[in-house]
Amino acid sequence: MKICVVGTGYVGLVAGTCFEESGNDVICVDNLAAKIAALREGKVPIYEPGLEELIRRNVTEGRLSFTTELADAVRQSVVCFIAVGTPEKPDGSADLGAVLAVSRGVAQAMDGYRVVVTKSTVPVGTHKKIRAEMEPIAPHPFDVVSNPEFMKEGAAIDDFMKPDRVVIGAASPQAFRIMRELYEPFVRTGAPILEMDNPSAEMTKYAANALLATRISFMNEIANLCERVGADVDYVRRGVGHDRRLGHHFLFPGVGYGGSCFPKDVQAVIQTAHEHGMKFPLLNAV
Ligand SMILES: NC(=O)c1ccc[n+]([C@@H]2O[C@H](COP(=O)([O-])OP(=O)(O)OC[C@H]3O[C@@H](n4cnc5c(N)ncnc54)[C@H](O)[C@@H]3O)[C@@H](O)[C@H]2O)c1
Repeated sequence: MKICVVGTGYVGLVAGTCFEESGNDVICVDNLAAKIAALREGKVPIYEPGLEELIRRNVTEGRLSFTTELADAVRQSVVCFIAVGTPEKPDGSADLGAVLAVSRGVAQAMDGYRVVVTKSTVPVGTHKKIRAEMEPIAPHPFDVVSNPEFMKEGAAIDDFMKPDRVVIGAASPQAFRIMRELYEPFVRTGAPILEMDNPSAEMTKYAANALLATRISFMNEIANLCERVGADVDYVRRGVGHDRRLGHHFLFPGVGYGGSCFPKDVQAVIQTAHEHGMKFPLLNAV
């Protein structure tokens, strides 16, 4: 299938390369000319095990290309993934400026039916904003698909190639069919493709990150209590993790959670709750 991935950051570069590796023709788009020029020479701006080799090979074989020209890429693709950043605004909400700008760009350039897919982490309701942005200018029908990404930095290729699950939120059988076709090579080991409505798919990503952040914060509080009562949190962590209902992941106490996603995603959930008249005391504490 011919696809384009807009945004060659962590997510876009890994997703584009993996879709390429599974036999698609992929055009990666970014508005940073220097980044695109470097990628064309095989210089990869991030370190991710295996990524540089995959990019070099696929560029040489002519199936992966890089451009700053969104319109050209859209005209050559059936599916357009949006993988641009959604940074935190001062009020904690997610900045959708780049996502909506790309959506408009896709609408202006499309010369037939397109599937527009959000790979970026976007708050519930973003699919409606994208539709509202595109509808007045799009000369052809399109579907908006919400397809959050769960990769971890450091294991991103592996996570993408062998996902625990693929979440697809859409509203049309055609969009589901196209997305299933794209993802089938990655779920041969039996991981499910979970088809759902757009809001549920958008919410799934935030719920997962907020829950993981909560586990870390919770264990930090337990560690503080352990110190006061003379218990060793490392034993406690192991004792807790062996409960199959809980598991061992994200139970390590430490300086708190960080990284490029948890802090902004937790804030975005709190902000979404506020916008809908709900306080979320648990996440405020987290
Ligand atoms: N990093 C992760 O591990 C991870 C995991 C899952 C989901 N996500 C989500 O995926 C999204 C992207 O994250 P990332 O870490 O890849 O971000 P990033 O900042 O590394 O990359 C974003 C890229 O988009 C480009 N860009 C911005 N505006 C553009 C525009 N208008 N047109 C074309 N390109 C544009 C930037 O130049 C940059 O190269 C975010 O919403 C993030 O929350 C990230």
